[in-house]
Amino acid sequence: MNKNISSSLAATSQHEAELQIVAAKGSILVDSEGKEYIDLISGVCVNNFGHQHPEIVRSIRTQAEKFAHVMVYGEYLLEPTVLAANELTSILPESLNTCYFVNSGTEANEAAIKLCKRHTGRNRIIAVRGAYHGSTNGSLSISDHESRKSAFRPLLPDVHFIDWNDEKDLLKIDEQCAGVFLETIQGDAGVRIPDASWLKALRQKCSDVGALLVFDEIQCGIGRTGKYFAFEHFDLKPDVLTLGKALGGGMPIGALLASKEILDDFRRDPILGHITTFGGNAVVCAAALAVLKLLQKPGLLEGVQEKGKWMKEQLVHPKIKGVRAIGMMLAVDLEREADVDHLIQSCMKNGISLFRFLSRPQSFRIAPALNIDEELLAEAFAKLKAALDELK
Ligand SMILES: Cc1ncc(COP(=O)(O)O)c(C=O)c1O
Repeated sequence: MNKNISSSLAATSQHEAELQIVAAKGSILVDSEGKEYIDLISGVCVNNFGHQHPEIVRSIRTQAEKFAHVMVYGEYLLEPTVLAANELTSILPESLNTCYFVNSGTEANEAAIKLCKRHTGRNRIIAVRGAYHGSTNGSLSISDHESRKSAFRPLLPDVHFIDWNDEKDLLKIDEQCAGVFLETIQGDAGVRIPDASWLKALRQKCSDVGALLVFDEIQCGIGRTGKYFAFEHFDLKPDVLTLGKALGGGMPIGALLASKEILDDFRRDPILGHITTFGGNAVVCAAALAVLKLLQKPGLLEGVQEKGKWMKEQLVHPKIKGVRAIGMMLAVDLEREADVDHLIQSCMKNGISLFRFLSRPQSFRIAPALNIDEELLAEAFAKLKAALDELK
């Protein structure tokens, strides 16, 4: 990589950026030297339909030739924004029949925190250990891991954490509580899947005390787990759902969904309860509309379940200490963090892009495009196995 080209671009860590990408199509990335990589991470669960999907590109192009931005969210009705909201709510339960578009996952959670407070008139927010909900002040407050928070304190007051899958901890949820935030499948914690009985008890507890239950499906939604939304695996529903990442097909997006009655709280006392200039942007929503149509193509979700099962079956190796998987969202545990670093580097040399988890350094993630070609997936897994064989 020519280091000079990035000298004016802020970096996020001490590590050099690993690749300079000049093109991406389907599940293939191309770097500045023309080398190809099979993409097994989809930009962390963003490119669920691969890169440059022709239907997403067509939808973006058509809308870009009409208009992009005309007014801040909510002031004018924009056709692609209305159509995307209709399409999204058509595949959700009636109690999530209203959609508020924002710019990113973290903004969706920020708005959801405000909505919980506004709707209940209470302050307290409960979140779950291991959570990652985003990096802005409110979302960071309800995320776990003090090492990533302490430099930015004071954060939001009256935020409390409960342990994952711990029924006794549900006692902390009481009548003072405005909302409970949970990733339906914890992503950054290494694909943690909740016990159905705990989730059911959590749902019941929130209903009993009048707290809103918010499911963050920013990473695990939009077909990733083999259902449209991960909560469908558990036969229950949240009061508020937040989405982002894959919904935009590569364009920046966030969304919160709730009943009309709940979301109407942003319309009064005060009006404009959540102001966002670019939320519901016409070009972004045109991309989302194409994504939502692709998501409903017959056979897609069955394919996700089959490919997910196949991948899990392949992940048997003396170096692999554990696998957690749901649909095409997988976490693979190795013995040490150094093994993960080594594996990612050696896969990259062999043309496979893999990635870490921020909060689980001894594991790596696999989350290919849901529509990845089966032969390409098999080629990637053969190379992954070769890299595992080489680990000392
Ligand atoms: C579960 C979850 N919530 C929220 C976010 C924040 O989304 P964004 O980076 O779009 O702000 C992420 C991002 O990784 C996430 O995985």
